[in-house]
Amino acid sequence: TVGNSTNIKWHSCSVGKLERQELLRQKGCVIWITGLSGSGKSTLACALSRGLHSRGKLTYILDGDNVRHGLNSDLSFRAEDRAENIRRIGEVAKLFADAGLICIASLISPYRKDRSACRAMLPEGDFIEVFMDVPLQVCEARDPKGLYKLARAGKIKGFTGIDDPYEPPLDCEIVLQQKGPECASPCEMAEEVICFLEEKG
Ligand code: PPS
Repeated sequence: TVGNSTNIKWHSCSVGKLERQELLRQKGCVIWITGLSGSGKSTLACALSRGLHSRGKLTYILDGDNVRHGLNSDLSFRAEDRAENIRRIGEVAKLFADAGLICIASLISPYRKDRSACRAMLPEGDFIEVFMDVPLQVCEARDPKGLYKLARAGKIKGFTGIDDPYEPPLDCEIVLQQKGPECASPCEMAEEVICFLEEKG
């Protein structure tokens, strides 16, 4: 029995991950970007995708907001639904990594246990967690979608950072801080992630 399914068997094919990676000349992995709303996750995801693409690497972005338009449109922002959102995106990211792609997942993913469950789905070293370490006040001042304003006015309930928790990573691979006025640009941050990937081969 697997989950709620019985009588199911894993079927494998002779064309495997290694051969796909050889074809693509890259290593499939998951770059998991976590942080508050307005911390710049999607912007970094795009800059990273652009930077890798220009180096001939195939990437695909799974953005929380976007995936909630389709695959995860049945999910709310309750803790159980956020957990399911993250689990599904983790599973899809794992499939993309298995396909040989560099999958960039960008979602708030506020709970440590949900993020570590996704990490545990992948081989050691294939899950690279990037924390957008941007203080709430900075995200709130940016408020690109006007959602913090609505949350402060009580018009959105359970908004991350306002009346819903965010658990920062304790031991992630990369921390990108944006605290002062002279903080790094999205391109510079993307380069930092790319340097990390190059160092790790
Ligand atoms: S989660 O927590 O990982 O399931 O969230 P995610 O799928 O990344 O979706 C976050 C985007 O949804 C919008 N939004 C909210 N965010 C946080 N809390 C509440 N209650 C909420 N309601 C809507 C918001 O635009 C988030 O987008 P980003 O890109 O993070 O700003």
